[in-house]
Amino acid sequence: MITAIFPAAGKGRRMGASFNKVFAALSDKPILIHTLLSFSRCNLVDNFIIVAAPGEVEPVSKVLNSLPGIKPCKVVAGGTERQYSVYNGLMEVSADTDIVLVHDAARPLITSGVIKNVIDEVKCSGAAVAAVPVTNTIKVIGDDNTVVNTPDRNKLWMMQTPQGFRKDLLLEAHERARLDKYFGTDDASLVEHIGHPVRVVMGDYKNIKITSPDDLIYAEAVLGKKAV
Ligand code: CTP
Ligand code: MG
Repeated sequence: MITAIFPAAGKGRRMGASFNKVFAALSDKPILIHTLLSFSRCNLVDNFIIVAAPGEVEPVSKVLNSLPGIKPCKVVAGGTERQYSVYNGLMEVSADTDIVLVHDAARPLITSGVIKNVIDEVKCSGAAVAAVPVTNTIKVIGDDNTVVNTPDRNKLWMMQTPQGFRKDLLLEAHERARLDKYFGTDDASLVEHIGHPVRVVMGDYKNIKITSPDDLIYAEAVLGKKAV
């Protein structure tokens, strides 16, 4: 059984709106709905857990459970950091789940092909992340804005979601991070922290995280080009 957790409990500060960006309209519907519909089209995923901000759990559950085309969802309350939100979602994963995917609610352009790439690799090695090679040169910058060094671009990939794990592995990684007070900006880094290898699989350059208003313009253009 495969369960997807969708962290959606952020504030969307960089979007600059007065509300959580996952509710912002992207073409004809909110970003969160696009994300869940995209995942609902992938028949490999069985259960959905949406992690909403504590004050948004009730309205989100009402809307989602009345929408056609979206798999039945459990909606749970998130925390003040994404890592805590994912942990709260993990606590609600069913006993018969063996693989957990974590996918940012703010990545609505996810495709079934990328979801499948992640699941296939999790089945082999236990931990897999969708990612794409960087296209720009990346430099490490010191405190005084001076370049410290330039890592070899051929070894740099940008991490996306979904990130998929054997359930027991992700649980162990989150429990250990709590004990060690270790914070990572994604789930893979928690799994790396316990010394388990994480494999990278091909994501999609279009699978962007909607972060600022310009991203909405790009996403609308992508959706406009898609045959429906
Ligand atoms: N998220 C979450 N709980 C948090 C913070 C973030 O569930 N405490 C979710 C967001 O809702 C989003 C995903 O994690 O779907 C990726 O985070 P990010 O893009 O940083 O979203 P926000 O934190 O909402 O945005 P910002 O950092 O600009 O405030
Ligand atoms: Mg954030």
